Amino acid sequence: MEFSAEYEVHAAAIANLFTASFTASEGSDEGELIGALARRLMEETPSEHLRVFTAWNNGELDGAIIFSRLTFKGDKRVVFVLGPVAVATKRQRQNIGQRLIAHGLRVLQQEGVDFAATYGDPRFYERVGFSTITEKDVPAPFPLQHPEGWLGQFLNNATKTPLQGPSRCVTAFDDPIFW
Ligand SMILES: CC(C)(COP(=O)(O)OP(=O)(O)OC[C@H]1O[C@@H](n2cnc3c(N)ncnc32)[C@H](O)[C@@H]1OP(=O)(O)O)[C@@H](O)C(=O)NCCC(=O)NCCS
Repeated sequence: MEFSAEYEVHAAAIANLFTASFTASEGSDEGELIGALARRLMEETPSEHLRVFTAWNNGELDGAIIFSRLTFKGDKRVVFVLGPVAVATKRQRQNIGQRLIAHGLRVLQQEGVDFAATYGDPRFYERVGFSTITEKDVPAPFPLQHPEGWLGQFLNNATKTPLQGPSRCVTAFDDPIFW
């Protein structure tokens, strides 16, 4: 398996992977929504606020994950939020998702990012170092529909104190439907 952080040239394939993978697991409405989100993240986000990591096997796209910046008004620490995450349907349950996320977190850590957040199923994300956080300690950009899915981890030796909000997400995520 090879990892890549280049996304402009692969943007269409990456968006299609999100559409197909979420359609298979959650239906076509969700597939279209997440595919469109991935496309907008790649098209509209300034590159310094976006990190996309992909996993490849013999030229085939096996998985893709997207991190985008969360900015905290009262806090200088650098925070990225992970999502969406998808592995090609026929390649799921082969550890690709976990390896790709671990790779992405390692790169962010090397860049000096202080905190990674995500919003999803704790049973999966706990396997790659995330644990439950509260909206009080890490303010989310919108009130969360599923606060039990709000997760995070400190990278590096950032001061492990609550982050001072309010927080703001990138424009593609600026819709309560995603939160
Ligand atoms: C979720 C997803 C990214 C996981 O990638 P993957 O490569 O299949 O996962 P891995 O092989 O690294 O890890 C598999 C383990 O994670 C767990 N897991 C996988 N998907 C899970 C899910 N949706 N919820 C909870 N646990 C999950 C499984 O229990 C599995 O462990 P097991 O085989 O011992 O039971 C992939 O299944 C996927 O693309 N799903 C559709 C899109 C999606 O739901 N994205 C995440 C939204 S939060």
